[in-house]
Amino acid sequence: MTNEIRTAAPHVEEAVIERQRQLCETIEKELMQRGFSEENRPGYYIQTFGCQQNEADSERMAGLAWMMGYRPVSEPDAAQLILVNTCAIREHAEKKALSIIGGYKHVKEKNPDVVIGVGGCMVTQSHRADQLKNSYPYVNFSFDTGALHLLPELIYSALTGGRRQFVSSDTYAVAEGIPSHQEKPYKAWLSIMYGCNNFCSYCIVPYVRGRERSRAPEAILEEARRLIDGGAKDITLLGQNVNSYGRDIGSIDIAGLMRQICALPGDFRLRFMTSHPKDASDALIAAMAEEEKIVPHFHLPVQSGSDEILRRMNRKYTSGEYLSIIEKLKKSVPDVSLTSDIIVGFPGETDADFQATLDIISAVRYDAIFSFIYSPRKGTPAATMEGQVPKEISSRRFEQLLALQHDISRERNQRFVGRTVRALCEEVSKTDPDKMTARAASPRPIHFENNGVPIGEYCDLEIVSADTFSLYGKLINK
Ligand code: SAH
Ligand code: SF4
Ligand code: F3S
Repeated sequence: MTNEIRTAAPHVEEAVIERQRQLCETIEKELMQRGFSEENRPGYYIQTFGCQQNEADSERMAGLAWMMGYRPVSEPDAAQLILVNTCAIREHAEKKALSIIGGYKHVKEKNPDVVIGVGGCMVTQSHRADQLKNSYPYVNFSFDTGALHLLPELIYSALTGGRRQFVSSDTYAVAEGIPSHQEKPYKAWLSIMYGCNNFCSYCIVPYVRGRERSRAPEAILEEARRLIDGGAKDITLLGQNVNSYGRDIGSIDIAGLMRQICALPGDFRLRFMTSHPKDASDALIAAMAEEEKIVPHFHLPVQSGSDEILRRMNRKYTSGEYLSIIEKLKKSVPDVSLTSDIIVGFPGETDADFQATLDIISAVRYDAIFSFIYSPRKGTPAATMEGQVPKEISSRRFEQLLALQHDISRERNQRFVGRTVRALCEEVSKTDPDKMTARAASPRPIHFENNGVPIGEYCDLEIVSADTFSLYGKLINK
């Protein structure tokens, strides 16, 4: 397999993947011998924290679990296999995961046969893997983000009384050929690359996801075709910095890849995340302007509006450079929806630095932002920088930022009122069971009276009103 793949990225050998597939069959037989059957399948329960990349990884864990004969259950108490896919981006994410894992002690007491495994970014840090090993004795195994494909091996060992294992492979290769089980077939995540080379000074991701590696375009196109055949209507290409897709291949870039996917037959839309401003290319902007299937939404995290903070964050662009990309984007894609991530309270952030962030938000006028209070991450340069900002100051700035953005969001959302948009009906509204929630190009959900539009189908909605977080629509056409 490796010979045919046009990418420089290291790949897990086909023989290793094949062994895992065989183990899945062995595990299924083993479970059947233990009293489970076609009608009475053992249950799996996967708890996912973190970003879409983790969601995509959890779908692969689910795909493997299906292959082993497990079926999803909605409560951990009903499961024979519990997997926790952790995140390490902020302290809060780690605390939440540890508390959930702590609660599984009781599940194990009630059902000693349950297999409990922990994967993802948190346990890729050796101090966290050690903590699990030493303080969570009912956890059967953990595996780092480079070892997801070894899940069958780990589960088999746990089922057959093997020793507890805490895998720190420390090697990151592309693993093709792992089945994936999507929760919602109409809304698909498609990883096009893994890892990150950017080492923003606050961020743990490069340490827990390894260096950038692109999947071969052939493999991505094949997966896209499969997803579309399976009913995917909304496909999001995933990577920590999709703008640098293909750099390790040489002959293709993100714009070229997206154009190839758009050329596939089918009624679908294409999104991508995340983009790094230093790599946001004219070719990508042109692709968005020209390809009808690419959703006119650009998530382009700025992080801060202060040039000094950006420098210390190691972001490699200035606020002026960022704004000139935004200008280009607005010119080429006039109705583009813009969103961003912002960190508040980065070490050394002064009132003036923070004001620069407010200023850039006012200048860009994002549809929405995702803002975070800076959280020191062990092993990253920013964690030991001078000038750590006290929590009261960060919290105050955070509130101020939200208030500004809420005003902008409310105003920005008004532009849709009176328009008819084509939206994908995604789910029953979380707040009102009589309503459905759909999504068009804007990242905002559209709520509308359910007149029988099936979930997973497109419909035309006239937007009748809008507030800060939502749009409200009226069905025009199924
Ligand atoms: N690769 C993406 C996003 C990665 S993480 C990108 O570069 O844009 C998502 C967001 O979490 C980041 O954009 C950043 O705003 C935030 N983040 C990352 N590390 C953080 C930290 N230590 N404290 C607070 N927020 C952080
Ligand atoms: Fe983290 Fe920066 Fe990489 Fe994004 S680009 S994952 S913020 S290091
Ligand atoms: Fe979290 Fe890992 Fe994503 S740290 S944000 S799950 S890449």
